[in-house]
Amino acid sequence: MKMTVYHVDRVVRDLYVLRVDDLSTKYFEGLWEIPEGITYNSYVLTLPDKVVLFDGWKRDYAEEFLEALERIIDINDIDIIVVHHMEPDHTGSLTMLLSKMNKQPMIYGHPMARSMLSSFYGLNNIKFVPTRDKMEIDLRDERILFIHTPWLHWPETIVTLLKERGVLLTCDVFGSYSIPRKLFDTVLSEDEIRKYLIYARKYMVTVIGSYRSHVIPAIKKLDELGIKPSIIAPAHGLIWKQNLDIIINAYEDFAQSKYDEHKVTIIYTSMYGFVEEIIDTIKDSLEKHGLTIKTHRFTDKERPMISEILTDVDTSKAVIIGISNYEASIHPRMESVLNILIKKIKARKPTLIITVYGWGDAAKALVKKKLENTPLSPINTISVKAGSKLQQNIIEEFLGKIISA
Ligand code: FEO
Repeated sequence: MKMTVYHVDRVVRDLYVLRVDDLSTKYFEGLWEIPEGITYNSYVLTLPDKVVLFDGWKRDYAEEFLEALERIIDINDIDIIVVHHMEPDHTGSLTMLLSKMNKQPMIYGHPMARSMLSSFYGLNNIKFVPTRDKMEIDLRDERILFIHTPWLHWPETIVTLLKERGVLLTCDVFGSYSIPRKLFDTVLSEDEIRKYLIYARKYMVTVIGSYRSHVIPAIKKLDELGIKPSIIAPAHGLIWKQNLDIIINAYEDFAQSKYDEHKVTIIYTSMYGFVEEIIDTIKDSLEKHGLTIKTHRFTDKERPMISEILTDVDTSKAVIIGISNYEASIHPRMESVLNILIKKIKARKPTLIITVYGWGDAAKALVKKKLENTPLSPINTISVKAGSKLQQNIIEEFLGKIISA
């Protein structure tokens, strides 16, 4: 039997958060392993004359979403629904809500959202109001400012500022994976926040890694509009009431692909242990030089999480990739990892490639071509016959290059 945990709490005067804790999604977006889970946060503003709902939950939790809403309001009192972003983790519960209401609320969203509401959910006869960038609506007791923030995470993404209450509702941006034990940052310890930021980086890299160049312009835009929120309320994870700089700085660091100077990530496939033996000698040398090594191995006993590989590479100074030849090609698991890395990693990483072969090294040329002109373009690609040793001078040479890089 499904046991859904959700929370309803007051954020500030007349503004409530509805948060559901999703531990059943194993592969967010059908891709990213998240054993730590994720939350979907929706918000309700209950003004004397108007009730405004901001976003919803994933469709899996539509019934519970209605139940949570009814703990605060009668759903027929909702006058306005603001859709910040059309991805179904925020809009999936909308059809059930609208079908249960006995009136049609106004739906505000980016102009692109209208056709998406129609195609995703068959919502054609709705009262849709397209937002313009910097458009403001006055609801007495609150003025809502809509700001277009394209590519955070899709092109139709907007954020809103509740001007009287100083709350910035940001949907995906400033969000994170994991299920914080509390709703607000104010009650978490420094250590808990530090651990949370690791999940935040994983969320940023996996979900908006490809679009990270849009983060700083968006923050700058908010700054230029003179927006200094007292609360940042995203649609995933913690609500920031006290340490807003922490999450803003974390997003800025991510946007600039900030990495740990002493961290090296090693990824390899090893079918029968030949690649692993070579990698082990490299690891010894790196550790002797005081580097922190994160290792992800695809073997007949282990299969690492792609989401963790991506996060480690993004936060590393350099990368070592060990590849088994498989049917005269790159091992398919590595091929898939490389495809994702090429898509999401945006800063140059000095990379050493080792291809290992039994009867012919086709992978060497293929991987060189694949990584050419990418952030992982190899500084050296070494071919080793299975059972042979890697020459120590190759490791020293790579070390010299990453230390001086
Ligand atoms: Fe949380 Fe891009 O949706």
